[in-house]
Amino acid sequence: MPAYGVIGGQWGDEGKGKVVDYLSQDADVVARFSGGNNAGHTVINEQGEFKLHLVPSGIFSPQTTCVIGNGLVLDLNVLRSEVENLQARGVDISRLQVSDRAHIIMPYHILQDQLEEKARGENALGTTGRGVGPAYVDKTARSGIRVGDLLNKEELHTRLRQVIKEKNVLIQRMYGGEPFSANQILESCSEWTEWLNPFISAVESTVQTALTAGKKILLEGAQGALLDLDHGTYPYVTSSHPTIGGAAIGLGIGYRSLEGVAGVYKAYTTRVGSGPMPTELDETIGESIREKAWEYGTTTGRARRVGWFDGVAARHSALVNEFSAVILTRLDVLDGFDTVKVCVGYRLNGKQINYFPSSASALARCEPIYEEVPGWDQPTAGLTTWEKVPTNARTYVERLQEVIGCPISIISTGPHRHETIQIHQFIPSTRSL
Ligand code: GDP
Ligand code: IMO
Ligand code: MG
Repeated sequence: MPAYGVIGGQWGDEGKGKVVDYLSQDADVVARFSGGNNAGHTVINEQGEFKLHLVPSGIFSPQTTCVIGNGLVLDLNVLRSEVENLQARGVDISRLQVSDRAHIIMPYHILQDQLEEKARGENALGTTGRGVGPAYVDKTARSGIRVGDLLNKEELHTRLRQVIKEKNVLIQRMYGGEPFSANQILESCSEWTEWLNPFISAVESTVQTALTAGKKILLEGAQGALLDLDHGTYPYVTSSHPTIGGAAIGLGIGYRSLEGVAGVYKAYTTRVGSGPMPTELDETIGESIREKAWEYGTTTGRARRVGWFDGVAARHSALVNEFSAVILTRLDVLDGFDTVKVCVGYRLNGKQINYFPSSASALARCEPIYEEVPGWDQPTAGLTTWEKVPTNARTYVERLQEVIGCPISIISTGPHRHETIQIHQFIPSTRSL
């Protein structure tokens, strides 16, 4: 019953979209299990360049069923325009299924996200402002509205009117904002229902049937382990579980189905939004990597903070996910540097530590301890075989493998699907990649 997880090992944007598109060529089901349209996954293949926020990145492989699991929160306007855009570009979306248990991001969640951020002032988290956090809060508070609720109009109207009444009190009294019209939101619900109906499904049963039949399921992570609500740099995290535990809950599968879990890591580190990042670089080198690699958010366009590879943080992710493999991306971005640094420990209060502190303020006080290794002047960009990788780049990759404590299976050397080196097979291959 083989399921394979592909999880962000850092603070998101590691290249999960590229990797999932590549691995999907050999999968039967590709499933998203958490997050919402705070995610932005870039895919570049023969069909073009795509920026996906909700639709799984496996949609370009014609044999896959693509599943949006119960663990997601969905802005249905965004989902609709994403699906229509894919259709307009000739992508077959009839293989898409949306869980009836997934929660809906309502217009009031988006406003709430923005108002809360504004109220936090200097302590803003730097959220994507897409309503993701407030939608998860309502899920936990048991006042969320789920996709399946759209199908029972009478009950939906009663519940939603009550929720909107409470939201309007909050928005007006707490933030001095404009109240929402319940009728307008109910009208949107009717439009969503009509459009979404063919996609709505009991997704956990699709997944279970596929697992029982021995089909290969690829679990597409969103965000990254360091943004996990429990294991990340709280409170500078997202409101869901991007770690592999989130996949079990977000799709309704058990641990026995997991055959492998790969952590996707960039060959350096980036972060969007607020929160500690010990290896963050000053403007000179940081700026040069940002410009060379075009490190700007796929969802919000914000400049990403850039730093050297943080081995302490990387190891923390590997441990809380029990990664069985590492997929290293963007090695090509480091082509041409005289030397490259890897953080192998932190100094905190004058002492060397090699664990990842749970407190964001302690992490902010950690100074990285670096190893400096020679760079390489022969490019790795576009390489597809390990033998051609320059010696110093190989030494760097091998050092990262030791620091993370997990074998590297795949290296990505460019944004296109084919710019990939397969060292070991992460998913046992039945189709050629
Ligand atoms: P995701 O959120 O993890 O899917 O990552 P994003 O798509 O937000 O950001 C990753 C960026 O890196 C995208 O622009 C990709 O096209 C690009 N990318 C992915 N892998 C590679 C790689 O190996 N080399 C280079 N140069 N770019 C890559
Ligand atoms: P992908 O899937 C990078 C970050 C936001 C912010 C924090 C909380 O493309 O890797 P939220 O809107 O989730 O409440 O914001 O989480 N964040 C991401 N950063 N990539 C992502 O997704 C992210 N999704 C959320 O920038 O710091
Ligand atoms: Mg992204």
